[in-house]
Amino acid sequence: MNKKGKIISVFTNKGGVGKTTTSLSVAHGLAKKGVKTLLVDIDAQCNSTTPLLGNNPANNMAELLQGTKTVEECVQRLDFDSNFFCLPNAESLTDFEPALIAQGKNGFTVLSEKIKDYCEQNFEMTIIDCPPNFGIFVINALYCSQLAIVPIEAGSKNSVMGLLSAQKFIQNIQSAGNEQLNLFRVLITKLDKRTKIGKDYLTQIQNAFREYVFKTHIPSTIDFKYAENMNQTIFQNSPKSAGAKAYRAVVNETLEALGLGTQDE
Ligand SMILES: Nc1ncnc2c1ncn2[C@@H]1O[C@H](COP(=O)(O)OP(=O)(O)OP(=O)(O)O)[C@@H](O)[C@H]1O
Ligand SMILES: [Mg+2]
Repeated sequence: MNKKGKIISVFTNKGGVGKTTTSLSVAHGLAKKGVKTLLVDIDAQCNSTTPLLGNNPANNMAELLQGTKTVEECVQRLDFDSNFFCLPNAESLTDFEPALIAQGKNGFTVLSEKIKDYCEQNFEMTIIDCPPNFGIFVINALYCSQLAIVPIEAGSKNSVMGLLSAQKFIQNIQSAGNEQLNLFRVLITKLDKRTKIGKDYLTQIQNAFREYVFKTHIPSTIDFKYAENMNQTIFQNSPKSAGAKAYRAVVNETLEALGLGTQDE
């Protein structure tokens, strides 16, 4: 891929549906295919930072947004894969939230001004792991992005309503200024196809969102918890598992959605 790099936000206002797992798995899956990939953590919970760089690493998002560090200083290559990089976060990011909100509309593009050009020039793919809300940091992430991936837990009540509000949120960002955000995909996670409720949700979501839904669904499996407990991605912890296989397929679908085709490993 020689074109300008692409930026993807993984977001929804629902908590615990697999945003971080998806960000880590898709980013590492891309890197394993030879795609130079950056994972940006914009969630002050730091759940994608911790397995990659530990707790509250120096040179982080909080320092970047406050202007005490540059993006070049903050992006770090990971020792287990030469194509995989991380821009980590720290819990202190929340201290900066009121100041960002106080900037009004100018506060929407702070992240974009600091990282977008750099990411597009230095990485083939950038994945931004978002916090579980539609707040100022998520607005900033979406202002950088061309594609938004919205994970949805297959057995979760009101899931279609939640997806509609995420879709509306994307449309608002498009009309407010980021017209490049023109791709939206729904990823069904934690699916248990053996249960009727799992199958019913699958049908409901597919009927409501059709071409926006990834053909691949992520199965509900304990392997993700094992990987999380070991501070590893699913590809480090259990590369042959059904979960890893599913995310490999999601990586291919993501490349296709962006018009980049699939690449051989
Ligand atoms: N497909 C899956 N099957 C079973 N467990 C999963 C699956 N995906 C993620 N998990 C587990 O579910 C929990 C929540 O996942 P994750 O942290 O990815 O969600 P999140 O949407 O990022 O949460 P938050 O909203 O807090 O940021 C974690 O313990 C994770 O290991
Ligand atoms: Mg998360």
